[in-house]
Amino acid sequence: MNHSSIETRVGLLIGLTLFAVSIGGMVEIFPLVFDEGTQPIETVEPYGPLALEGRDIYIREGCVGCHTQMVRTLHSETQRYGHYSVAGEDVYERPFLWGSKRTGPDLARVGGRYSDDWHAAHLADPRSVVPVSNMPAYPWLFDNVLDGEDVADKMRTLQTLGTPYTEADIAGAQAAVAGRTEAEALITYLQTLGLDMRNYEAPTSGAGE
Ligand code: HEC
Repeated sequence: MNHSSIETRVGLLIGLTLFAVSIGGMVEIFPLVFDEGTQPIETVEPYGPLALEGRDIYIREGCVGCHTQMVRTLHSETQRYGHYSVAGEDVYERPFLWGSKRTGPDLARVGGRYSDDWHAAHLADPRSVVPVSNMPAYPWLFDNVLDGEDVADKMRTLQTLGTPYTEADIAGAQAAVAGRTEAEALITYLQTLGLDMRNYEAPTSGAGE
């Protein structure tokens, strides 16, 4: 059958077009029906209460406006930051903080790169440790003290969304936060970033990617 005999019969042309398009649709849609969703990587841990509060301060202060948390699969990025980001390390990120603007460096792997003291000096006055920095200073974080009243509720909400907090985690949450400064919470959060990936080895099956 040659082209002109198809193209001159409108009904046949429509039928064959729909057939061709439906193959593309099935190839894209069927795998999703059987997909189990993003699986956590083996080493991923939910945030502890203090880190969780720190994360909210990171959001409140707009750090995501200048910092991404997403290492792309480019050689230059993996050389600088470490393993590229995989979906399975972000399963407990609500909301995710991948960001899109890099005025400062990516922070997805910053945990453990500097001491707590370095972070404290840097947040109080970035120019004291990085003379050319144009990052703003956040001195109030050292004055504001947390009471931890909301943290158990936050954890319970995350629990209903699937974060595997235990009742014991939630019961001890307020005590772990009360009396700590916002700076301590934020630094605790920063020091966790990327730790899940420290011992991660890419699975050959592609799970978690
Ligand atoms: C106006 C943009 C801007 C904002 C907002 C900002 N930063 Fe930065 N940040 C930078 C720049 C630029 C650098 C690189 C120079 C330096 O180290 O100070 C940096 C560096 C850093 C570093 C060191 C990263 C590394 O690998 O050396 C950390 C940690 C950091 N910022 C955390 C934060 C946190 C936490 C907040 C929010 C409280 C924040 N930043 C807000 C611009 C910003």
